[in-house]
Amino acid sequence: MHVTVIGAGYVGLVTGVSLARIGGHHVTLVEKNPLRLAELRDGMVPFEEPGLQDALTEVLDRVTVVESVDQVEEPDLVFVAVATPISESGEPDLTQIRASLQSLHRLPDVHVCVRSTLPPGTSARLPLMLNRTDGSRISTNPEFLRQGSAMADYAEPSRIVIGRFPETSEDHLSVLEELFEDIKAPRLIVDVSSAELIKNVANGFLALKLSFVNEVAGLAEEYGVDVDEVLSGIALDPRIGSAYMRPGLGFGGSCLPKELQVLSAAGRRQGLPMHVARAVSQVNIEQQDRFSRSILEELPAYGARVGMLGLSFKADTDDLRGSPAIHVARRLLEADHEVLAFDPAVRPERAREAAPGIQIVDSAMDVFRGADAVVIATEWGIFADIDLTQARDLVRRPMLFDGRRLLDPAVAVAAGFVYHGIGRQSRAPSQRDKPAASAVRLAVDGDGE
Ligand SMILES: NC(=O)c1ccc[n+]([C@@H]2O[C@H](COP(=O)([O-])OP(=O)(O)OC[C@H]3O[C@@H](n4cnc5c(N)ncnc54)[C@H](O)[C@@H]3O)[C@@H](O)[C@H]2O)c1
Repeated sequence: MHVTVIGAGYVGLVTGVSLARIGGHHVTLVEKNPLRLAELRDGMVPFEEPGLQDALTEVLDRVTVVESVDQVEEPDLVFVAVATPISESGEPDLTQIRASLQSLHRLPDVHVCVRSTLPPGTSARLPLMLNRTDGSRISTNPEFLRQGSAMADYAEPSRIVIGRFPETSEDHLSVLEELFEDIKAPRLIVDVSSAELIKNVANGFLALKLSFVNEVAGLAEEYGVDVDEVLSGIALDPRIGSAYMRPGLGFGGSCLPKELQVLSAAGRRQGLPMHVARAVSQVNIEQQDRFSRSILEELPAYGARVGMLGLSFKADTDDLRGSPAIHVARRLLEADHEVLAFDPAVRPERAREAAPGIQIVDSAMDVFRGADAVVIATEWGIFADIDLTQARDLVRRPMLFDGRRLLDPAVAVAAGFVYHGIGRQSRAPSQRDKPAASAVRLAVDGDGE
């Protein structure tokens, strides 16, 4: 089939490349950002997503990249995967959706499926935005992929949700079914409004789990217990389990924090207080602030040098949107400390834009040079392999803040560092090492969506 995808970001590019690779379809990517467009035209993926570059290279002969829908001949279906940000007040900003759908007015009969995340109550406007009298050739298909494992998530999703209008035709649904025929996953065809809520609520619930375990981690620290032991104990209850229950310095990205605001705003419009969604958001911000304060408390009033390992909102992506690492970096810079950071994927200019004043160094080891404290802010696997004994010789003060619980505290202490980890007791080299706390290994999840 011939498929057009509007928006070649994390969702659109993964969708387009996967349609070409798995289904052998011919895909036209429409991308208006000139930098992304230029890189795509050179056959390069403009951001970090494991496996995506190889997959794109493999299917280059079936993928065309254009800057405008005007350059597209009528395809069998158009997927829309542009961003749906929110305003400060949490109200949905559908500017990119509206512009994309307006650009399709010249194709009045084309099948259109919106993969972008739509806030509650907004799908109903899609036919009007497309200048159509009904939704017979329109659907929604919320995407659940997680950055960092997006290629696998596309190929093996937990479910495929299709949102349909009352008048969405069987013909339209069979085009979609043909495009997804190689994907083995439960199908759920529901009303467009239900599809919106499934996506928003799924993200809200994931965020709820993370904020809850983060709050519990704080409590564990105060009571001098290791949160791993607490989580191991509750994980054995099959009603609770261990998935997506890993404490950290807070969740970020373009989805989870946004969805909480979207849920709160949607409830507010209906006169519902949405206490839980608002609290989950507050706990997440407080978690990042609390971690920042714990670092600041160990530093002189100003002028210290802090090394940061990781800047992206989670491992295996270069995405800085909503990144807790950036939040912490800004707090340190505001307090007039020097921040030197290394991230294996983030482009230095993007980091400097996100946290003006930050200095980017070339390697993880450089972060330790002359540092008064080193912070692990993103759970990149390479940071777990750092030779801490060698790193100890480079620092001015041996202070480690593990915001991702990536290191074994005993190893850090044995190398001569004072170790502070979320949900763990702080430990200094003079203390006797204790055996590893957790009896049950907890699943490691990314803060993705
Ligand atoms: N990133 C994720 O992990 C993820 C997961 C599930 C769902 N989503 C949802 O998917 C949607 C896209 O997210 P994303 O992270 O891929 O966003 P993104 O910002 O990375 O990509 C959107 C792309 O669309 C392009 N664009 C915007 N308007 C355009 C137009 N009129 N014509 C051509 N190109 C246009 C932008 O230049 C950008 O490159 C959002 O609604 C998001 O909430 C994202």
